[in-house]
Amino acid sequence: MDAMIHIENLTKSYGANQAVRGISFEVGKGQVVGFLGPNGAGKSTTMKVLTGFLLPTSGKVTVKGVEVEQDPVQARRHIGYLPENNPLYEEMMVEDYLGYVAHMRGLPKDQQRKAIKDAVDRCGLGDKRGKDIGELSKGYRQRVGLAQAILHNPDILVLDEPTTGLDPNQVVEIRNLIKELGAEKTVLMSTHILPEVQHTCSRAIIIADGTLKADGAPSTLTADGNTLSVAVRARGGDTKVDELLKSLRALPGVSDVTTAPATEKGALSFTLVSKSDSDPREALFDLVIDQKLVLLGLERRTISLEETFRKLTIS
Ligand SMILES: Nc1ncnc2c1ncn2[C@@H]1O[C@H](COP(=O)(O)OP(=O)(O)O)[C@@H](O)[C@H]1O
Ligand SMILES: [Mg+2]
Repeated sequence: MDAMIHIENLTKSYGANQAVRGISFEVGKGQVVGFLGPNGAGKSTTMKVLTGFLLPTSGKVTVKGVEVEQDPVQARRHIGYLPENNPLYEEMMVEDYLGYVAHMRGLPKDQQRKAIKDAVDRCGLGDKRGKDIGELSKGYRQRVGLAQAILHNPDILVLDEPTTGLDPNQVVEIRNLIKELGAEKTVLMSTHILPEVQHTCSRAIIIADGTLKADGAPSTLTADGNTLSVAVRARGGDTKVDELLKSLRALPGVSDVTTAPATEKGALSFTLVSKSDSDPREALFDLVIDQKLVLLGLERRTISLEETFRKLTIS
């Protein structure tokens, strides 16, 4: 993988509070990654270290091969950062604010005009250039935040909760804009909103309590699934639970099987987890016949997205 972001064993403490407790991951060129976790998980802290605004307590962070702690200025050239709550100068005009940012970032004078024009155009701010930021809607402020992030044309965007606090229409607009901007960039975007990553990201990294809980395609991490609660009884002779577990795990579409407390005397109870697009009930029924078991109970339940998230993030 062509790593644009490389985080290795990162920890960060605020006094006695260990906010990040050993996180490692890489983000490859062109990936749009959702950084998902409940409030207080350590998302913003990780992003502040990644963007060189906080020093790590231990561990290493590199951005396009530049070690952030060693050379934060060079690292930041590669990164466009939209901080949490998008702090802006309310009394400044959009255009003046972007000019100020261009100056602060050390963009050569002769490139500033074009850089501002490009950012304004790409973020759909054409008719807001001369407006005070304080007059803008939350959605447009977020566009200004994105415009300042892309002003120096960085390869990497780090966006901290870019859609939090927006109304549903604004959420869709900003999501689409991030998708457009993300087409040519590597994006790490945090959110505590679960469906957010499914709309925008090809990969989700889930953290909670400062540790990494899951990393993969949103469809596999947060897919709706089903559980089947099954209770059977052996007819006559005893059934080996281990072998039955093995047979249940081999059923098509079944991703996990665990034993459950017996629902009645003599019952062997199991919980089968399956993907939303598969229904193992028919195969299960065949197995029951084949193994000469008595089917005592069968109940199917849908696992919600929230349940999956809760399972991963509540310790
Ligand atoms: N400046 C700070 N000083 C002290 N503790 C902080 C500070 N910023 C964050 N924390 C704590 O660190 C933990 C992680 O916070 P944060 O990184 O903001 O999480 P998230 O962005 O996932 O909501 C929380 O327990 C939070 O209270
Ligand atoms: Mg945060």
